Parts: sequence; C-alpha cells; structure tokens
Amino acid sequence: MNEISVGILGTGKYVPERRLTNHELEQMVETNDEWIVTRTGIRERRIAAMEQATSDLAYEASIRALDAAGITADQLDLIIVATITPDMFFPSTACLLQEKLGAKKAAAFDLSAACSGFIYGLANATGFIKMGMYRHVLVVGAECLSRITDYTDRNTSILFGDGSGAVVLGEVPSGRGFQSFKLGADGAGGELLRICGGGSRLPSTEQTVSDRRHYIEMNGRDVFKFAVRVMGSAAEEALSMAGIEKSDIDLLIPHQANIRIIQSALERLNLSEDKCMINLDRYGNMSAASIPVALAEAVEEGRVKEGDHLVLVGFGGGLTWGASVLVW
Ligand code: ACO
Repeated sequence: MNEISVGILGTGKYVPERRLTNHELEQMVETNDEWIVTRTGIRERRIAAMEQATSDLAYEASIRALDAAGITADQLDLIIVATITPDMFFPSTACLLQEKLGAKKAAAFDLSAACSGFIYGLANATGFIKMGMYRHVLVVGAECLSRITDYTDRNTSILFGDGSGAVVLGEVPSGRGFQSFKLGADGAGGELLRICGGGSRLPSTEQTVSDRRHYIEMNGRDVFKFAVRVMGSAAEEALSMAGIEKSDIDLLIPHQANIRIIQSALERLNLSEDKCMINLDRYGNMSAASIPVALAEAVEEGRVKEGDHLVLVGFGGGLTWGASVLVW
C-alpha cells in the first residue's frame, strides 16, 4: 500500500485590531523607535482586546482555515492548539475551541513547545493522518502574549504581540505535502526563556505576583545566539532528510523573532530576502502564531504556487526548535 501524502488543505489567520507602536512603547519604558527597529526590525504589534482570550483568536483563524479548505467543523477528527498562553490551565484551549467551532467529532489537545509549537503540531498531525487514524486535523498556533508580558521590562515588552494562524491538514496528491520534519529540544537551556510563577513549582501567591514572576523572563543575548545556530542547522537537516537542495527553496517561512536572526538564516541558506516571508515589522513575535500567520499571508499574497518548495523553521523556549520541508 502506498503511504498517504499529507499536506495543507487551507490556511487562515486572525490578528486583533489594536496596534501597539514603538512610539507608544517609548512612553512606557526607556526605549526608542530607532533602537527597536535596528535591533529587532519590529515597528508595531497587535494587542488583544480585554474580552478576547487565546481561544477567541484561535476561533477566528480556524473558521477562515476551514473555509479555505472547503470542509465543515464536523468533519474535523482532531484539533491541536499550540500555545504558551492558554485561556486557563485547563480545560485545554483546544477543547474550548472545539466547543466554539462545534467540532463534535474531534479529539482535542494543547501542545506546549513555545515558538516551535506550530511545527511540532504539524508533525503530530501528519503522523496521525499517515497512520490512518484521522482524516482532517486542524492545527492552530494562537497566543495572547500581551497577557504574560511585563510592560515595565524593556528587554521583553518590545518584542511580543498577539495573533493566531490555523491550517487544516489532510491527504494531498502523491509527491505533494510534507516531505520531512526535524524537531529538537535542549532542556538545559530552559532557564533562558521562561515563566516561573503560577505553576506547581512556584504556585501564585501575593509574593510571586509582586515579584512579577508571572511574566516572561528572558536572557535575550543567549537566546539570540541559540537561535542563530539552530535556525540554519534545523533547516539544513530538514532539507537533507527531504533530499532537497538549498537552491530549490522557493519560500522560507521562519519564526518572526528578530530580523537579524532571520538574516543570518538567509545567509546560511544562500537565500535572498525576496525568498523569505517577513512580517515581524507589523506583528512582532507572536510565538506559536508567527509561522502560521506568515504562511497564511504568503498564501493570501499569492506568494505560494502549486509545486513550490517551502521551508518552515522556528525556535523557542524549552529550548525547542523545528523545521519542515513542504511541497505546496
Ligand atoms: N531599548 C533601548 N535599549 C535597550 C533595550 C530597549 N528596548 N533593550 C536593551 N537595551 C540596551 C541594553 O540594556 C544594552 O545596554 P548596555 O550595553 O548599556 O548594557 C544594549 O541595549 C544592548 O543590549 P543587548 O541585550 O545586548 O541587545 P541585543 O542586540 O542582544 O538585542 C534583543 C536584544 C532584541 C532582545 C535580542 O537579544 C534578541 O532578539 N534576542 C532573541 C529574543 C528572542 O528571539 N526571544 C524569542 C522568544 S520566543 C518564545 O519562546 C516566547
């Protein structure tokens, strides 16, 4: 029996309306537009309305992805939501989304791999479909990072934004779809990027809140060095697993953390900037949502054609990383 080819049947994205510009951040912390643009490439990011939580952003992206795939929610067999900002500890955001969508037949779970979560989710979904367990899987990357960002900390507050991207995975013609996945983790680097407060190690107390332990803590320089190293190597490994040359890449869709990290990946892959999707100037780093939003925009803008070779690559807290080669 021939193995099923698994690919993307439809994409969707949603970003909240409210923009937080660098100039507004200048009023909040000791920083300036010029520093943020030259050091990161970010100009503005989106912020969810107070009444919006991660599952609400996920819902908006998901209905668009279902529509693009031409299937209804009751045809979904599984929902995977990659997020580090779930609506609550439990039930999972995937279960909350299942209810909002009315996807009664679907199993549902959240996946925690920070900014690499969407690629981890794609790998999981592909495996389930290839083994014949499920036909249609919804994979969502959704984040309300503004809820875990300390707006008194200039090291982190300039970087993050809110948003959501979704894809429906299913069978595609032979030769198309996902050709390889390279996933990795290094728990030794966990302390470089984390939230300590509120978990079972350090439950929330008045003290943990007044010490601001419920916000993201980051060692930016070390995360930067790790990212530069791993983005290129993960992409190269995924390419060699797929038997594809760097020169065959039509579009790179990298995690949108910092323009300088993306430029170093482009250098290593011998690619020019026009072969790369970049939208961090408008959205900042949306963690698990960055790659699916960039992918959905590439599709909307007509930058992806049938038969194109796409490389998705990301890194994040954990530490984690992931890359995939996809024939559109
Ligand atoms: N505005 C002005 N100055 C600043 C700011 C700011 N917002 N932030 C830091 N500085 C200052 C620093 O204090 C430092 O000053 P000093 O030299 O007097 O000490 C100087 O600028 C340089 O600081 P660095 O930290 O060395 O700046 P760097 O060039 O490394 O840029 C940045 C910092 C943007 C955070 C970068 O390190 C980076 O992008 N790292 C990766 C972060 C990342 O990708 N995180 C992913 C999170 S993904 C997830 O899983 C959620």
